[in-house]
Amino acid sequence: MAKIALFGATGSIGTRVLQEALARGHEVTAVVRDPSKLTGGAADGKGCAVVLGDVLDPASVAVAGAGHDVVVSTFGPGAGDPGALVNAAKSLVGGVQSLGADSPWPRLVTVGGAGSLRTPGGPLVWDAADVPEPVLALMHAHGDALDFLRTVPVEEVRWTSLSPAAQIEAGERTGVYRLGLDDLVVDTDGRSWISTEDYAVALVDEVERDAHPGVRFTVGY
Ligand SMILES: NC(=O)c1ccc[n+]([C@@H]2O[C@H](COP(=O)([O-])OP(=O)(O)OC[C@H]3O[C@@H](n4cnc5c(N)ncnc54)[C@H](OP(=O)(O)O)[C@@H]3O)[C@@H](O)[C@H]2O)c1
Repeated sequence: MAKIALFGATGSIGTRVLQEALARGHEVTAVVRDPSKLTGGAADGKGCAVVLGDVLDPASVAVAGAGHDVVVSTFGPGAGDPGALVNAAKSLVGGVQSLGADSPWPRLVTVGGAGSLRTPGGPLVWDAADVPEPVLALMHAHGDALDFLRTVPVEEVRWTSLSPAAQIEAGERTGVYRLGLDDLVVDTDGRSWISTEDYAVALVDEVERDAHPGVRFTVGY
């Protein structure tokens, strides 16, 4: 059983990660801005601790992450500035780093973006002609956050970033998925997709297995 501090627990992906982690018996602290937003199923705060926190504040990350095995961030900027993704990555790393090698020294697992993944034809997802501007900005902000994480030695912060498939939407928990590293995972019909539920399965599997330290990997069907 792992002790997990989860930022973004009220979000679309974070809600599923919270449910998945609690269902497996992990001890989760939901780090939220507004506890009243924790609703639905296992995500109603029952069975997990709830604390206030701001992922953009390294001191807040350190306070929330202390005493946990893993800090997970499913943070998203919503309609706000996509650049907050880079600030969040820096804040998460800074916060975890400031805890030093205390026991336990939390690992860091973040949600990434699919834009920087290579498509089967060769170009990156964000180079496709039909990506709308707001989505493009989000993709590149995720890319910048990943570039930053890649400068962080795992001996200093044991980080991992999990990029969703090109499409991720609420659906079924099948427990079946395929993994890639920097290449988009596509199914036999050429579609890259994953349900938020199965994304959460893959993320909590990573929390349990620590299989991808210091790298970005991706998940799809
Ligand atoms: N294919 C792809 O590459 C793909 C597709 C979808 C999503 N994503 C990425 O996955 C991540 C999560 O997506 P999502 O759809 O679950 O997002 P979401 O539903 O908008 O959830 C965002 C979460 O971040 C929290 N948050 C915002 N600012 C915060 C702050 N300063 N401190 C702490 N928490 C804060 C929100 O809390 P509040 O409830 O308080 O606002 C919410 O829980 C995003 O980074 C998104 O870009 C990638």
